[in-house]
Amino acid sequence: MSLNSNWTVEQRYRRIEEVAQDSIDEMVNLRKQDAGYPSYHIAPKFGLLNDPNGLCFFNDDHHLFYQWTPVGPVHGMKYWYHLSTKDFIHFEDHGIALHPDQDYDSHGVYSGGALVENDNALLFFTGNKRDENWLRVPTQCFAKMSADGKIEKHGVVIENDHYTEHFRDPKVWKQGDDYLMVVGAQTPQKTGSMALYCSRDLMNWQHKGPIQTRYNNLGYMWECPDFFEIDNQSVMLFSPQGVSSENPYDFKNIYSVAYIVGDRLNLDSVELENHQDIAQPDYGFDFYAPQTYLDDKGRRILIAWIGLPEIDTPSNEHQWAGMLSLPRELHIQDGYLVQSALPELKALQGEAVAVESVVELDTTSFMVQLETETDEFELTLANAAGDNIVFSATETEFMLDRSKMSQLYAEEFGSVRKAPRLSIKQTIEVYVDKSVIEIFINGGKHTMTSRFFIDDLSSLSMTGDVNTVYHSMSPIKGLDD
Ligand code: FRU
Repeated sequence: MSLNSNWTVEQRYRRIEEVAQDSIDEMVNLRKQDAGYPSYHIAPKFGLLNDPNGLCFFNDDHHLFYQWTPVGPVHGMKYWYHLSTKDFIHFEDHGIALHPDQDYDSHGVYSGGALVENDNALLFFTGNKRDENWLRVPTQCFAKMSADGKIEKHGVVIENDHYTEHFRDPKVWKQGDDYLMVVGAQTPQKTGSMALYCSRDLMNWQHKGPIQTRYNNLGYMWECPDFFEIDNQSVMLFSPQGVSSENPYDFKNIYSVAYIVGDRLNLDSVELENHQDIAQPDYGFDFYAPQTYLDDKGRRILIAWIGLPEIDTPSNEHQWAGMLSLPRELHIQDGYLVQSALPELKALQGEAVAVESVVELDTTSFMVQLETETDEFELTLANAAGDNIVFSATETEFMLDRSKMSQLYAEEFGSVRKAPRLSIKQTIEVYVDKSVIEIFINGGKHTMTSRFFIDDLSSLSMTGDVNTVYHSMSPIKGLDD
């Protein structure tokens, strides 16, 4: 899409105060006319959403923040936008949480995570500042959110003494008496890494260095690192840039998401001990910058950005870009990170309807469950003219083909994505919401997450011997104007 190349740096870096109300009204109007705007996924009212930030369970609510550029569907001046929910059905819209209003974040409040401590949620973020030569001067900073929702910034806690200008996206957790932080960083040798810092008081941080694995030379930058323990394993999750693969499945998008499962993080050697091979959680076209948190029930929940840096979608014409994935509970099974849509979402499901071969859709927000014991099948979403997106399977592979959509984009990265099929007998869940599809395959060991653009989508059809059940999905509530 060419829309974005017309934006000047000055236009992108305007603050919300500089955007005229008329222009906001116009963006909102265009967005409201978009048949592709989701109803049960979170998307911005206007402007661009990217990474989920500061995910936490605090004061009886799940809190979600996201990177937001208000001026339009472009990357520019970034804010943290804040929502909360108790059940993922009803949401409260708190508006902007963090403004780029300090010298250290003068060019954007970049991504980061949250840590709940006593009566506060501590929000760690990257202060993105550009100098006179437009070089980045990143620092790691924090703010405190109190139970009454007030947020106060507390300034810089880590300066950039060890890495290139690519040093961002802090994620903090507590282990015993230590606070640990990982930061996405590019080493002076121009390799991607997950830099580890350690602190006793949250203010003074000791640099421990990049976490050591067999993948010390993978790509040139790792964004949005996350580190967590789950089911007695330790997981590094990150978004590497500059990675590719010869095999038909891995690392086909402009940037990727990867994870490494190991036994434990050795704080002396800064090594992820006894770790497995690197793996990909998602094989779709649009999945990036996932972040996880622990809720009050002890569930490890993942939310990702459905979108990618440097890729513009047709939604730009309606003055919005990007959405958040459905919340997914994580587990480890057979060494895989397994994802399943949170059970809360079942409350959005309408009655079960058995699908014979074709469903004429009366809504484009729905989910289908496929029980397959057969080698080959095909699920097609199409309009009357035959424009379509096809999810299909062979004995050994799944495939998502979006080469026949009404509106094509990012074709330079291919129009087909493939994933290995781990078993013939399995239950697959497919969530469709206007212009997004999230497919849980291999019992959740993989997902395929993608945007798609079919004008007047009107039918779903199935071939193959698959027991298929359809449910409409109701909209989430509280985020309307
Ligand atoms: C990932 C990212 C982060 C950065 C943020 C800025 O999409 O590039 O590394 O903090 O987006 O919006």
